[in-house]
Amino acid sequence: MTANTLEILQQVKELLVNTYAVQPIVLEKGAGCRVTDIDGKSYLDFAAGIAVASLGHAAPAVVNTLREQAEKLIVAPPSFTTTAKVECAKLIVENSCFDQVFFTNSGTEAIEACIKTVRKWAYENKGHACNEIISFHQSFHGRSYGAASLTEKMHVQPYFAPYVPGVHFANFNDLPSVEKLISDKTAAIFIEPVQGEGGVIAATPEFMQGLRALCDKHRIVLVFDEVQTGMGRTGKLFGYQHMGIEPDIAALAKGMGGGFPIGAMAAKKQYAAALTVGSHGSTYAGNPLATAVAGAVIREIVADGFVARVEKTAQYFRKQLEDLQRRSNKITAIRGLGLMIGIDTAVDIKKLTRTLQGNGLLATQAGEATLRLTPPLIVTEAEVDEAVSIIEKTLKELS
Ligand SMILES: Cc1ncc(COP(=O)(O)O)c(C=O)c1O
Repeated sequence: MTANTLEILQQVKELLVNTYAVQPIVLEKGAGCRVTDIDGKSYLDFAAGIAVASLGHAAPAVVNTLREQAEKLIVAPPSFTTTAKVECAKLIVENSCFDQVFFTNSGTEAIEACIKTVRKWAYENKGHACNEIISFHQSFHGRSYGAASLTEKMHVQPYFAPYVPGVHFANFNDLPSVEKLISDKTAAIFIEPVQGEGGVIAATPEFMQGLRALCDKHRIVLVFDEVQTGMGRTGKLFGYQHMGIEPDIAALAKGMGGGFPIGAMAAKKQYAAALTVGSHGSTYAGNPLATAVAGAVIREIVADGFVARVEKTAQYFRKQLEDLQRRSNKITAIRGLGLMIGIDTAVDIKKLTRTLQGNGLLATQAGEATLRLTPPLIVTEAEVDEAVSIIEKTLKELS
């Protein structure tokens, strides 16, 4: 580590609130699937901002749109209309099962909008006592009070209690455990098609179809948290498209802005209609800059062949990892969907991510011990080969 890097990391300690286990490198720039730190060391970026840089770094669609829109109009009050906002909403609606969109600035805020929507819908359609939500163990929905309350943080972060009441936790992929929690008070079920932070665990289509049937039977709103799985990450535009069902509402963020902060709640009309004038809002959400960039990103992702290419590269990646698993006795499990891949290994996860970093590959931890690989969706097979060979070398080193 150079003196320059050391000095900046020291400043991080002094100046920034200590909410992250700060990585020992300082990133400066990126292009495609690679980033470079201030010492000039290059890394293959299979973290991609935690599944955010969907088109890679410095993607022309993002950079050009940002520049052009910034020169035209950066901000407008949320009650004012811009073509960027309308076109971005149209792209989401025309390519999904949803009818209306509420823009947000992050995934957490998208979840917050979903919570308020289902609570208001249930209040008006099923009575004020119908205000409970079912979520899942090991889920992650964000850091605000509402989103954290769906995330079962109370056990590890008791100092924030009381959380939002009326949230119950079922077991992922276990329908009877959901059924047991349903009552007249159940307004909604929130679920990730693939639990990301929880360890990259995909829901089974049968489980999701069972949830849909339960929701239909009991008039419960089914909300998919597609913050990580949406926008092509899983090899389809949305995670729900793997499941043979449609949710009523979805939370989107991460990949939809390609790195620019934006999120959205997308909902079927009857639920979207619950949010009326004054019931929700945000100064920045849906601003022309963010929606222009997201529009440009989504246009690329929905273009002919893009998502099919993601699926093809994902299958190739999976095959290379499975081959590596056969060669190495260090990989104990490979999970995930599309380019959202989790690997369990016999190696300490902190040591593994750190050593991978030293060897030129950025990846993140998910759950207690899972290595999460979420490269930009434009990743090539050659870059996959490079990543797999770094993983192989690193596992050997750590033997
Ligand atoms: C599934 C899921 N939901 C919600 C969030 C929160 O999104 P944000 O960090 O943009 O607020 C995340 C972030 O990791 C996520 O993975």
